[in-house]
Amino acid sequence: MPFPHKDLLGIGQLSKDDILTILDATESFKEISTRPIKKVPTLRGRTIVNLFFEPSTRTRTSFEIAGKRLSADVINVTGSTSSVTKGESLLDTAYNLEAMNPDILVVRHSASGVPHMLAQKINCSVINAGDGAHEHPTQALLDLATIREHKENFDGLKVAIVGDITHSRVARSNILAMKTLGMTVTVVGPPTLIPVGMESLGVRVSHNLEEAIADADVIMMLRIQEERHNQTSFPSLREYSILFGLTAEKLKKAKEDVIILHPGPVNRGVEISPDVIESGHCLILNQVNNGVAVRMTLMYLLLGGADENPN
Ligand code: CP
Repeated sequence: MPFPHKDLLGIGQLSKDDILTILDATESFKEISTRPIKKVPTLRGRTIVNLFFEPSTRTRTSFEIAGKRLSADVINVTGSTSSVTKGESLLDTAYNLEAMNPDILVVRHSASGVPHMLAQKINCSVINAGDGAHEHPTQALLDLATIREHKENFDGLKVAIVGDITHSRVARSNILAMKTLGMTVTVVGPPTLIPVGMESLGVRVSHNLEEAIADADVIMMLRIQEERHNQTSFPSLREYSILFGLTAEKLKKAKEDVIILHPGPVNRGVEISPDVIESGHCLILNQVNNGVAVRMTLMYLLLGGADENPN
């Protein structure tokens, strides 16, 4: 299973075979986290730097746990505690971190393209942990790993991605991955939260939640990313919630075996109601659980481990 990539910057760089290689290996890596001693020596002596310029609960912790389970040394640097606050440029920060010989730099930044820019300038591997509204490739891969645990084939699956599509790097990465795997994607939301020309990505556009979820195998709910809005996109959160929030009542219109994903953080009662979260359809914590295995897999593959036994 060759994995011919130095960096993971976006889903767009991955072929169907690459995605399936990652998902196959993820199944093996997942078992490691079920052991009483959750550690293997695979990346002993390797160094991973998490460089996060945006808040994160799931992704940063998940990368740290993934690296530690593979015995790598993991160092966390946040924007607010870095010398960027003293005027150092992002690029100088990266050059200085690289001078300490890390093997992987995991980067989250509010500006689209930052991981790509750094990957061109430094020699170690770069993983995009979310760049602006552009891509969040490891989130899409953990979403796919979760879907695969509940549905037999990707090909032909119908997915409804609901909410703030305009500002969602998760939606973009998932659309790219899902189209590559033969899934049918409908994006759902108010016109102000769906970019013009979305159809060019091969997706359907709907402004009616109940209609869009009726034949969906997978529903992905997204948070309204108010931190990325520079103007009001709808009259009120209450109105948004009435029209596009997923409730148990609306879920009655969906298939009995529908699964519901959400990348987090969740705003309970806005895009998804507490009773839907507690329902057996909702797999939010399964997604988080799979995130560790996906990130272990990517660290292993990027550092050239594809032909070795991880255990
Ligand atoms: N899903 C996700 O990226 O969550 P965090 O912002 O907490 O990392």
